[in-house]
Amino acid sequence: MAQPSIFDQILDPASRANPYPLYAELRKTPVARQDDGAYVVSTYDEIVALLHDPRVSSDPRKRPDVAGETPAPEEGPPGIPPDFIRLDPPQHDQLRELATRPFGPPSSPGRVEGMRSWLAEVTHGLIDNFAGKHRVDIVDDFAYPLPVTAICRLLGVPLEDQPRFHHWADAFVATMDPSTGTFAERQRKRNHVQAELGEYMDGLADAHVRQPGDDLISGLLTDTGPHGPMSRKDILSTASLLLVAGHETTVNLIANGVLTLLRHPDVLDRLRREPDLITPLVEELLRYEPPVQMLSNRATVADIDIAGTTIPQGSPLVLMLAAGSRDSHRFADPDRFDPDRTDNQHFGFGGGIHYCYGAPLARVEAQVALPALAHRLVNPRLVADPPPYRPNPTLRGPRHLLVELDTLAPATEQEQAAPGERLTR
Ligand code: HEM
Repeated sequence: MAQPSIFDQILDPASRANPYPLYAELRKTPVARQDDGAYVVSTYDEIVALLHDPRVSSDPRKRPDVAGETPAPEEGPPGIPPDFIRLDPPQHDQLRELATRPFGPPSSPGRVEGMRSWLAEVTHGLIDNFAGKHRVDIVDDFAYPLPVTAICRLLGVPLEDQPRFHHWADAFVATMDPSTGTFAERQRKRNHVQAELGEYMDGLADAHVRQPGDDLISGLLTDTGPHGPMSRKDILSTASLLLVAGHETTVNLIANGVLTLLRHPDVLDRLRREPDLITPLVEELLRYEPPVQMLSNRATVADIDIAGTTIPQGSPLVLMLAAGSRDSHRFADPDRFDPDRTDNQHFGFGGGIHYCYGAPLARVEAQVALPALAHRLVNPRLVADPPPYRPNPTLRGPRHLLVELDTLAPATEQEQAAPGERLTR
């Protein structure tokens, strides 16, 4: 039997706890053709180049194996058009611009920063729920409910609907695992999930039309900007994308963060003493243990010459972001977790026109969550190292992260506590 390729070994769940030695192997061939015709790209400069190359498409309808299978916007119940992560310019740019108006600068500059104190309240409420326990699961009891509460609040999605959309979010995330089927099969599943989620969002949009609030869905519905409001159908796909994109990614950033801090007690100690360390620390986490390890949603729409290889038109691409962020030609001592690192242009949030829309929110969530845990968990210890991982090689993170603690320190006066939200996964 043929030896599995390095990429196949990376997809194997057995590699999930530590894929980094395999990434180092992969970087020896910066652009590696796979048996199925896909090209896996693993070095920093080549990934940057392809993230910014207009000959690289994110639109699945332009791939030979999917063409004709994705319903056009006007087809298929309930006619949910592709969200902007799956569109190329100019449609991508138009929708992203409209989606940014109620979320960030220049139209809504204070939106995310304005959530910081509310996020701190939710954070401390969740930590208060640990009272009396000597063992907690950082994933289920903290890293999951915090971002889900945040994205629901931002979008105007009722938190009590969480059991309804949770399985859609899970199904959506599963379609990002290249080991679960061909790209075309995964796109079909994704369309199906998006249709169900879109139907749910449709009902919600009706409610927001009747009673607009200070949330993103209301903002999109009532926008009076120069280009008018986003169309109703595009709002449904955009809101569905944001709900899902704001889920598993930030969960993993927080869980990976706690794991990394417990593996580096010197840094944990510093964080307790030096609050400003959190900003570079979160950036280093995004480089060192990124929640999104690869992008397998790209294909070439023309021949591309790169690193001595010609990638033919119509080839699927896999951009190994996590491998690029540990490329020694770009980062000194890349396997070292070093929050003092400067010039840290990691791929944690991707790059180019699809650079993560939610990055400001994800950053603030991690910047609030990690110092709060560092202060309040007294003598935290990992129960298992490595912890059990989810099988998904794209969105990589622990399934559970059990931590033992002696006791809980009270929140300081500034750290106002509110009742924590309890969510079940
Ligand atoms: C730590 C948390 C997060 C990480 C690591 C992350 C990572 C990423 C990455 C790598 C991309 C690029 C995808 C591509 O190029 O195809 C991306 C895009 C995106 N992210 Fe995030 N993300 C996070 C949180 C969020 C949150 C909280 C939201 C929503 C509020 C969000 C919304 C989006 C959207 C809408 C896109 C598509 C942007 C576009 O196509 O222009 N993300 N994210």
